[in-house]
Amino acid sequence: MNSRREFLRNSLFVVGALSVKSGSPSVPALPPQNVEEEEYWRLIRQQFPLSHQKVFLNNGTIGPSPYPVVGAVYEDMMEVDTEARYAGFEDEARKALARFLGTESSEITLTRNCTEGINISCWGLPLKEGDEVILSRHEHVGNAGPWLSRMKLTGIKVKAIPFGKTAEETLDIVKAAVTKKTRVIALPQIPCTIGQVLPTKEICAFAKERGIFSFVDGAHPPGMLKTDLHDLGCDMYAGCCHKWMLGPKGTGFLYVAKEFRRNVQPYYGGGGVDTGWDLLTEPPKLNGYVEDGHRYYYGTQNASLLKGIVKAVEFQEAIGKERIEKRIRRLGTYLQENLLKAIPEIEMLTPVEDTSRGGLVSFKIKGKEMAELQTYCRNKGIIIRYVPENNINCARISTHIYNSFKEIDAFVEATEEFAKA
Ligand SMILES: Cc1ncc(COP(=O)(O)O)c(C=O)c1O
Repeated sequence: MNSRREFLRNSLFVVGALSVKSGSPSVPALPPQNVEEEEYWRLIRQQFPLSHQKVFLNNGTIGPSPYPVVGAVYEDMMEVDTEARYAGFEDEARKALARFLGTESSEITLTRNCTEGINISCWGLPLKEGDEVILSRHEHVGNAGPWLSRMKLTGIKVKAIPFGKTAEETLDIVKAAVTKKTRVIALPQIPCTIGQVLPTKEICAFAKERGIFSFVDGAHPPGMLKTDLHDLGCDMYAGCCHKWMLGPKGTGFLYVAKEFRRNVQPYYGGGGVDTGWDLLTEPPKLNGYVEDGHRYYYGTQNASLLKGIVKAVEFQEAIGKERIEKRIRRLGTYLQENLLKAIPEIEMLTPVEDTSRGGLVSFKIKGKEMAELQTYCRNKGIIIRYVPENNINCARISTHIYNSFKEIDAFVEATEEFAKA
């Protein structure tokens, strides 16, 4: 009995702590746009439940959501389970994503993460043995795994290119890697390793000219850089809402341009995918697939997470996509410049060219094991990411709108100490 009462008391406590409705006393309203710049961002920081006990510089792995997102998800989950409600917010989430990404909502497929969108694209394309796909030497497992798996199972060829130090150099490398057999260029817009912003628009235009399919791994740009996929001109773009968009965890999207849809075969069937089926005819039949991004996803969705996507988009729109990009770039530049000034032994891996740098800065320090910097920082309450991928072995620092110049100073100071130790 006692433990039951205790359980209920704890549950009520949890309910109280999560009562984070926008506008309730515990959540400050968004500051007006014209508040002085640094004060504005200080007030924006109050929108995040993110612990003040640590300096979180690893948004590239996961983006902590602000109160309006957490609150909406929580409230909707309560409603779903109180009312036994089925579904909801699917159209709203697709519309919000379309608005945010500069697409039509019919071009949006809902996914659980970026990797799912990559798999749908990779396996859906009409490729045969010997066809070549261009990747980079900077892939995350999410973009390496699907293509390598297709290589192993169906005999496509994967070519992994390096990046140049500038956008122009990278474009030249991509062009030089193309052969008569190249069918797909499947690069990230921003790789997880060194955070370099690639000249994706130019790469996609080049692919189009050559009749090559363009797929973009967009795990990082939406929510960091103002993203307009029609303008970018890619055929397919997979992203997630749980990094820079600051949305619910386990949410993502795939964009397939409507004129490109016929090239991407859906392989899974289920609710929402087809235009009709019948098991009572002889033989049973499946009519076809919906002319919509829903042809690639199916079944019951988590409505509360979809509501969270809508709130995440609205949160970013209320601040302004340009304003967010400008702030993130400013913090990134400040970080990079200060690291270069403070640590002579540094090997900066993220380009210093403005167009090639966003909110991720990666580096090594000569003679130092960078995995140890991650531990050194963690012991001081500073969270960064060590990058072992593709033997790059660097440190990667993310800066988002909830970060401050003071936090960056604390990180640079810790890194300077580490370099001298
Ligand atoms: C460049 C890149 N691609 C793909 C992924 C995989 O993303 P998700 O976990 O949403 O599938 C990540 C995750 O960090 C990434 O950085």
